[in-house]
Amino acid sequence: MHFSAPAKVILFGEHAVVYGKPAIAVPVFSLRANAEVRPHPPHQRGLIVEAADLNRVLPINIDDDLVDDALAVTARLVLAALNTTPPDVTVRLTSTIPIASGLGSGAAITTAAARAIAYASGVTLTPERLNEIVYEVEKHYHGTPSGIDNTVIVYEQPVYFRRNHPIESLSVASDITLIVADSGQPSPTKAVVSDLRRRFQAEPDIVQPVLDHMGAIAEAARQHLMSGQIHELGPLMTRNHHHLAALGVSSARLDQLVTASLASGALGAKLSGGGRGGNMIALVQPGKAATVIEGLRSAGAVNIFKTEVKRSC
Ligand code: PMV
Repeated sequence: MHFSAPAKVILFGEHAVVYGKPAIAVPVFSLRANAEVRPHPPHQRGLIVEAADLNRVLPINIDDDLVDDALAVTARLVLAALNTTPPDVTVRLTSTIPIASGLGSGAAITTAAARAIAYASGVTLTPERLNEIVYEVEKHYHGTPSGIDNTVIVYEQPVYFRRNHPIESLSVASDITLIVADSGQPSPTKAVVSDLRRRFQAEPDIVQPVLDHMGAIAEAARQHLMSGQIHELGPLMTRNHHHLAALGVSSARLDQLVTASLASGALGAKLSGGGRGGNMIALVQPGKAATVIEGLRSAGAVNIFKTEVKRSC
């Protein structure tokens, strides 16, 4: 039996979302984390997690707190949340999502693994419960995540997300085309979030209005997405990027990639995710995709790909 979960990008509102502002994220279906449940031969017992891409095979012991391996921790947290003992299977994990680049690889692996472990344990998981479990695992790694990553990845739909509010899926009225490009710098989300927290505490009068602006941008973007006014989104994305840069969460490289994509015809562009590295996104007219990809490549971006957000039916 096979389970999977997509990658994601944040279109608007990262960082501000940690402070209660709205944000918008969409799934990226072309990249996925996969978990396959394989039965053991008759003599074998217990849960084995196999990280095929990393060439690692881990027997999971629910009481063994000493193994501080990310996968072992994930499997133990999932088993604890499901309140179940390890099933007698191998869960084989693979992923095409680049790690530590703001595309949600951790939340996607956890989602796929939790689905597989629940299935093997005979537990029925509602999306709400799965979302809570993945959020618990995210907290273990990221401290104070807003919950946007797990939500968009578990529900596999565009979401308009506000912390501690009911989940709102977002109805998108026109297809949109995005170019996603990696700065090649690792993206230290946890460190960037805590640096911004320190800055917020030190200079609330400066930081709060920027967060408020980003919230207003996400709100306006939601209206344009729902009414299909795609051209209006570009300038909002670029403004969002400048606000993020003003808060110190961009990098020279991300700024260069944003500038390069705009110079080669993108409607708008911004960093996506934690920042200081990782990925940026550019909104393009479909006919301009190749030119913008070329512009980004010349500016030094790596792992560039095109993705589409399809109109909601
Ligand atoms: O770096 P990512 O893709 O995990 O995105 C982090 C988004 C933040 O708003 C910076 C943090 C959060 O928990 O929402």
